[in-house]
Amino acid sequence: MIELNYKYADSSLIGDDNGLNIKQEFELYKDKIVNIIADLNKRKDKPGQFLRWMNLGYSEETAWYVKEYAALVKDRFENVLVLGIGGSALGGLAVTEALLKPYWNFLSLEQRNGFPRIFFLDNIDPDSIEGLLDVLDLSKTLVNVITKSGSTAETMSQFMIIKNRLEAQLKDDYRKNIVATTDKNVGVLKQIAEQEGYKTFIIPDDVGGRFSVFSAVGLLPFALVGIDIEEIMNGVKDMDLCLKNTDINENIAAQNALIHYLMDTKKGKNITVMMPYSSRLRYVADWYAQLWAESLGKEKNLDGVTANIGPTPVKALGATDQHSLIQLFNEGPNDKIINFIRVKDFDNNLLIPKIFEYTGIGYLGGKSINDLLNAEADSTRVTLMDYNKPTVTISLPKINGYYLGQLLYMLEVQTAIAGSLYNINAFDQPGVEQAKNYTYALMGRVGYEDSANVLHGKMTLI
Ligand code: PA5
Repeated sequence: MIELNYKYADSSLIGDDNGLNIKQEFELYKDKIVNIIADLNKRKDKPGQFLRWMNLGYSEETAWYVKEYAALVKDRFENVLVLGIGGSALGGLAVTEALLKPYWNFLSLEQRNGFPRIFFLDNIDPDSIEGLLDVLDLSKTLVNVITKSGSTAETMSQFMIIKNRLEAQLKDDYRKNIVATTDKNVGVLKQIAEQEGYKTFIIPDDVGGRFSVFSAVGLLPFALVGIDIEEIMNGVKDMDLCLKNTDINENIAAQNALIHYLMDTKKGKNITVMMPYSSRLRYVADWYAQLWAESLGKEKNLDGVTANIGPTPVKALGATDQHSLIQLFNEGPNDKIINFIRVKDFDNNLLIPKIFEYTGIGYLGGKSINDLLNAEADSTRVTLMDYNKPTVTISLPKINGYYLGQLLYMLEVQTAIAGSLYNINAFDQPGVEQAKNYTYALMGRVGYEDSANVLHGKMTLI
């Protein structure tokens, strides 16, 4: 299993002002954690609670349908193009970047074992959209449009452009190049998919975007590029079993949630940094930033009191950011808790040749890049300790679907437990919806005329 080391957040190493007496805090919060975990598990199947993501590891039916479709289309497409944003894109990006061979899209078909390249078009930059369309042969591309609400302006505008280009190229056959992932009832995409006859996968009820990576939102793109989704699901299920344990001493999601909550509320560390020491895990930090920010950043608590809660997530990458952000982390304000993600065994052991021995870089020869990366991670952690800055470390035995499934699911449960500790609803996103509604109003969507008037009034004030 993946492991959590929280020693470096303890007051015994970084002092009482910045560290926690972790053993004592676990004891103090023991009963509260029991109640939180029991409550999450009690509510997870209830409609309207948005906790059904806790069941996704067990949805064998979805895995079966996804694999069946992926096998059917395997040799028909050179590329998969995912259209989606936020929770409809970040999990896919994080997992494909971690599990596919690096530089996947540059490999030959043979090196990719016959599986297609994969591209994610999450933003709506006109230059990058047009640029990607210049590169892709759409007739050989399967377009997976993903939106839970079925009407997100970014995703649907991309889709409208691409649908027209596909149709211009392929005439009536264009439908075979589109697969939709959306809600089973609501939303414009569902309506269009039915009218047009697209193959469709369903995002289950009560699964929010940022918690949807183990639904068809993630599983379909993974299966299309040959990622073993059983292995991921096994990791999710095994982690789920561990995290059903209500004893905080045995539950790493509860431990990390409590440490982050107390660091924020008792020690003023309202910034949480996610820093994997692995380029393949770099988008895990992006995925986590969205999960943590959208779930925990809330104006009101569950009692309706204005609280403006939310620790700010920051993404970093080891060792790259040792030459950038680390200066601030070491010597700047003591307002952060840093999460390292470490990988014990990389797929490759890359030796540095014994050359230039007569120079100042001679000491590197004969060591490996792996040794260097580990030495850098260790020295960064100890340096931060010297500056009394708290860190925790999550260790993965290696990067594969099993451990990645564990990691992402652990972070989801950690976020849910943190939400309960903060006494907020971790599963809505009114701040995101508000901006979406204003965009609809500015773009002239029917039904948003009043918002448009208000907005135009406010904008003329500036
Ligand atoms: O987590 C969330 O709910 C959001 O980030 C959504 O995923 C994002 O806004 C995209 O929404 P949709 O899937 O409805 O297009």
